[in-house]
Amino acid sequence: MEMDRETNEAAVDEGAVNGVALGEEQGDVLSAEHLSFGYARTPVLRDVSVAVAAGEFVALVGPNGSGKSTLLRLLLGTMSPQRGTVTLFGSPPDRFRDRWRLGYVPQRPALGTEVPATVEEIVTSGRLRRGRWWRSLTAGDRTAVRHAIDSVGLGDQAARPLGELSGGQQQRAFIARAFASEPDLLVLDEPIAGVDAESQRRFRDSLVHLIHDHGSGVLLVSHELSAVAHDVDRVIVLKQRVLFDGPPADLAERGVSLGIHAEDLPLWLEGLR
Ligand SMILES: Nc1ncnc2c1ncn2[C@@H]1O[C@H](COP(=O)(O)OP(=O)(O)O)[C@@H](O)[C@H]1O
Ligand SMILES: [Mg+2]
Repeated sequence: MEMDRETNEAAVDEGAVNGVALGEEQGDVLSAEHLSFGYARTPVLRDVSVAVAAGEFVALVGPNGSGKSTLLRLLLGTMSPQRGTVTLFGSPPDRFRDRWRLGYVPQRPALGTEVPATVEEIVTSGRLRRGRWWRSLTAGDRTAVRHAIDSVGLGDQAARPLGELSGGQQQRAFIARAFASEPDLLVLDEPIAGVDAESQRRFRDSLVHLIHDHGSGVLLVSHELSAVAHDVDRVIVLKQRVLFDGPPADLAERGVSLGIHAEDLPLWLEGLR
């Protein structure tokens, strides 16, 4: 453990100038230029450039199969692009070491059936990522954990082992862990934020809290944006290429609203197929 930490710090310092990591001066926590990628011979992404700044709320939308999840894997370094470059907190993803700065919840997280831990323990582990893992929990940690669990509507499931929950509930437990860790960049791939208006609102409040109070960047893949319609700074529409990248108001000028006519967006995306 100790060895790892020292190695990590050395790797981070190398890419830093006056304590500011290279590439972060512009305020981008994540950026990618001219990415192209295909599985085997099928092209999935062509010449895709995107960026997320600190404190920015970006929604990524596109029809099914348009390459959204693939793009996230390239951005976060679990796969490499065939062309183009990615910069994550000023480093290429494979050189990025401060993993605690990133909260990523995939569309289908590996199922936790083998995990003996409870929801509360999983979410608590998010608090401990940031500091020394052996330190004891403070009152602030416990409040943050409780808050995160409530914000994904798992308040009455906190003591249950993760393996007993449905896939959707497990994804929400991982989202709660990401909220609790207060990452500088949060990336969520089609979170099941809850069907009722109340749970949508709680989820929205947690995202906005992270952005406003911690200055975090958020990249959210979702077609249900009505709860966050007034909070999203930029919408990126993807279908192999970036078809649109701009504020929701500019998208509204094309007759696509995120808010009042919430059904607009999914219908319009279907039309792109
Ligand atoms: N692991 C994989 N191997 C081969 N093809 C894949 C794989 N994952 C996704 N694809 C294909 O790549 C395309 C984009 O998929 P994906 O990135 O999951 O899109 P989205 O998240 O927008 O629905 C689809 O045609 C999908 O079938
Ligand atoms: Mg997907």
